[in-house]
Amino acid sequence: MAYIHLDGVSKQYGSVWAVDRADMAIGKQEFVSLLGPSGSGKTTLLRIIAGLERPTQGRVLIDGEDVTELPPHRRGVAMVFQEFLLFPHRTVYENLAFPLRMLKLPKGEIEARVEWAVGILALRGLEKRYPNQLSGGQQQRVALGRGLVGRPKVLLLDEPLANLDRELRQEMEVEIRKHQTDLGIPFIYVTHNQEEALSMSDRIAVVRGGRIEDFASRTAIYDHPRTAFIAQFVGRSNRFTGTALISQGKTALCDHGVRIESAARPDIADGKRIAAYVKNEKIQLKPAAEMPADAANTLTATIRYVLLRGAYAEYVLGWTGGEIIVSRPRSEAAFAQGAEVACFWNEADIDLFPMTEDGR
Ligand SMILES: Nc1ncnc2c1ncn2[C@@H]1O[C@H](COP(=O)(O)OP(=O)(O)O)[C@@H](O)[C@H]1O
Ligand SMILES: [Mg+2]
Repeated sequence: MAYIHLDGVSKQYGSVWAVDRADMAIGKQEFVSLLGPSGSGKTTLLRIIAGLERPTQGRVLIDGEDVTELPPHRRGVAMVFQEFLLFPHRTVYENLAFPLRMLKLPKGEIEARVEWAVGILALRGLEKRYPNQLSGGQQQRVALGRGLVGRPKVLLLDEPLANLDRELRQEMEVEIRKHQTDLGIPFIYVTHNQEEALSMSDRIAVVRGGRIEDFASRTAIYDHPRTAFIAQFVGRSNRFTGTALISQGKTALCDHGVRIESAARPDIADGKRIAAYVKNEKIQLKPAAEMPADAANTLTATIRYVLLRGAYAEYVLGWTGGEIIVSRPRSEAAFAQGAEVACFWNEADIDLFPMTEDGR
């Protein structure tokens, strides 16, 4: 069923395993992101799929064919890079035609395909320009077009929006997702930016230290992080730490007098050091006076600053345990700097994990 299979793919550079036993199955219509911090092995994995790098171990299958030993041009894949890599001394038209000339396609076919790319990428009228006469977004569209003109079975994108400013990046996210949907081919998109991965992907593979820490739907990755690393890396969270107290079907911890209580977690033993994560937008606010004393999953705090972020107000609050950040829709009642408020959250919005030896 899957269109692309990675079967135990590993890559060793000297003593470093840049990719460590990656297994993935990707569907024909899927938009998948590889999300991880810098140096986690994302580019290496993408280059292995492209055939630009040979895996030390494992196999790559595309459309039922083992392509592990095939060179890049025989795999039906195309790759778009962060640096665009346009030819500066060639026009938009020539940049788009270049991969087709390499494939030695007939002239009419080249013209038709360049015309098609110019049309879908909104580059009409710019065909005779040189890259330095284009905006960043236009340059990235040409780079995207150069990936698509060869009609690849799979498009691989390595941080293609990293050099664009935020507004343009968000516009391009819509465009990229649209092209993937229209073309009906898998896109594998590498990024260290969780917002990009969340906005476009069907599924996200979180990569850490060469390993795929989880590969799941974007909502599962965001709402139910499987590891503390994912809870920390995806979304914005507040972290509380303490010792696990298990009683009456609850697992709780106490941090600076605040009791954080959630449903029992059989995998966490009594007395273990644990960390609890609550996403910024899952914390609610009300005036401190309205909060019953001694309730679990609440704390009292003072608003230090209020940052406006479009439809959201971001509150930076001080409490006895330090600082927490709460993001609330601006349609809700606002609180002013200096106000004393109660923060509270639902049990179901707590992600609990055992802490590792290094205290993380
Ligand atoms: N050609 C190479 N030679 C040696 N080490 C490499 C090479 N390419 C990548 N690495 C190492 O492999 C690891 C993963 O790199 P990379 O795949 O580029 O990560 P990412 O794209 O997630 O930032 C890093 O430790 C990096 O230094
Ligand atoms: Mg990279």
